[in-house]
Amino acid sequence: MKKKLIIIIIIIVILVVALALLLLNNNKTETVKQKPIKDKQTSETINPLETKLKAEKYYIDNNLQRYLNYANTEEKGELTPAQIISEVNCNLDKTKYEDITPTNINHNNLMLVNKYYYLTEDYTPNDLVTLTTKYNTGVNSQMRKEAAEAFMEMSDAATLDNIIIKNASAYRSYQYQVNLYDRYVERDGQDAADTYSARPGFSEHQTGLATDINQIDNGFEDTDAFRWLQDNAYKYGFILRFPKDKENITGYQYEPWHYRYVGKEIAKQIKEENITFEEYYAYYIENENNS
Ligand code: DAL
Ligand code: ZN
Repeated sequence: MKKKLIIIIIIIVILVVALALLLLNNNKTETVKQKPIKDKQTSETINPLETKLKAEKYYIDNNLQRYLNYANTEEKGELTPAQIISEVNCNLDKTKYEDITPTNINHNNLMLVNKYYYLTEDYTPNDLVTLTTKYNTGVNSQMRKEAAEAFMEMSDAATLDNIIIKNASAYRSYQYQVNLYDRYVERDGQDAADTYSARPGFSEHQTGLATDINQIDNGFEDTDAFRWLQDNAYKYGFILRFPKDKENITGYQYEPWHYRYVGKEIAKQIKEENITFEEYYAYYIENENNS
């Protein structure tokens, strides 16, 4: 009887071990089998928008998740992949004046100052020169040396075509911008002022690389000087900084009078690619892999 019991116990143990081994083995083969199915599933579930985004010229891989998040926000549903890329590259998914980064001044002629990149109160370019009355009409007559030389070269070339090009406002200190901006806020309220005037620290004029030319009003668009600049400014390294129909990207109303020095090569490229400085900076400077 005892012997029988022992045999039964041994059989049960053998059965349990066999069952356990069988289960283990089954699990293994399942994992191996499942792998390609999983892969297949992944490739099939790639967001079609992702494929479209990746095909765009200014696509930046590091921004992929931001593109997808931005496209998913209700009011951005109608944007094209190119618009999503442009807007996110230019930080429109961030909060202006709040999600901000200090301007990298080491980029020199290519430093970016806008509603997301700022200069500190104590930043003054160390190579400012003063334009003489031949080239200047206003009180803010200083520019950085290289930009001033390019500006004079441009003005001289315009003169040969009977066009007058003079600086009306170039370098403005942080403190000057405080007073200017405050006056505009008092006159028009902050929301309106923010569409045409930079907050202190956020003005490109503090770089010493910007110039308002001849007349600071929209009438400038209807002048021969403006048309001449449209055709020629890039040859001297200047770009129209706040173009028409790019208000959302630059953060400012169209300013036909405001030019920015970036150097000849880059000005030509920006003109040829028909992009804003923000778009250029995001793709070719910040996203170093593409530069
Ligand atoms: N008007 C430009 C945006 C400035 O204030 O710098
Ligand atoms: Zn300006």
